[in-house]
Amino acid sequence: MAGQAQVNGSYQPTPNQPVVARMYDWYLGGTHNSEADRVAAVDVQNALPDIKPIAIENRSFLRRAVRWLAKNGVNQFVDIGSGLPTAMNTHEAVLKVKPNARILYVDIEETVVREGNEIIRKAGWHEQVSMIRASALEPETIFNNPEARRIIDFDQPVAILLIALIHFFETAQYEPVLSFWQSKIVKGSAFVMTHCSGDFRTPEAVRATIDVYARTPTPIIFRSREECLKIMGGWELVDPGLSQPELWRMEELDEREEEPPISNIWWVAVGRLV
Ligand SMILES: C[S@@+](CC[C@H](N)C(=O)[O-])C[C@H]1O[C@@H](n2cnc3c(N)ncnc32)[C@H](O)[C@@H]1O
Repeated sequence: MAGQAQVNGSYQPTPNQPVVARMYDWYLGGTHNSEADRVAAVDVQNALPDIKPIAIENRSFLRRAVRWLAKNGVNQFVDIGSGLPTAMNTHEAVLKVKPNARILYVDIEETVVREGNEIIRKAGWHEQVSMIRASALEPETIFNNPEARRIIDFDQPVAILLIALIHFFETAQYEPVLSFWQSKIVKGSAFVMTHCSGDFRTPEAVRATIDVYARTPTPIIFRSREECLKIMGGWELVDPGLSQPELWRMEELDEREEEPPISNIWWVAVGRLV
């Protein structure tokens, strides 16, 4: 199974190719997607009939994790592979808890970064929230980016978020990325991830999903619990450790948020650098 052959220069979807950023927008009920994205998204839905609840459950975990971190010493968030900053994304959850927090969104998909910055500017958040285009596979580009430096002080604790992203990378691709961040961020910093898994799904559903994503620039890799535990190897796991999302700190749900659906496809975790 091939992971992404991508850095910014080589991530070049053809005009009619579906891309995961906009397919994901469709899963979340958004309108920032094209006909090609919707066709591929429906094909995923045929393989995984609960793909919409799957995306909603993932976002709910993201919000609980960043709220918990904001209450526990982290004021800065680098959300890599963020997709659009809509549908109650990181900054909306964090800023309610910590109004002076700083959030940098990073995505490789140009259309999403353009629209994302427009959304941020129009809403008046641009002093403390921004979005840059970069590949997660080139972390030094993110670390040295002047706009990233305007938003984030890497001498202070920061949470690195790779949410629903590592499953687009081979092990040999994600390992150096995590080592890079561990060598650059200070103690007390954090790493948050979610990863899709076939542990509770049929091989047929997994295969059919893999086949759809093979049509996009981002082929997908399902990993087992053991493999996901390995990803978290260099981090001290926050309770309850690597878990299914419904077991991860439900008390962090905002009073206006509904209980998320349970989809049995995610492994999720928050780790601290100690
Ligand atoms: C499944 S969406 C997840 C969105 C968001 N993190 C969430 O979980 O709600 C994956 C996102 O990662 C982006 N992406 C894929 N490969 C990437 C890469 N190498 N570097 C940065 N972003 C990437 C896609 O463009 C897309 O927006």
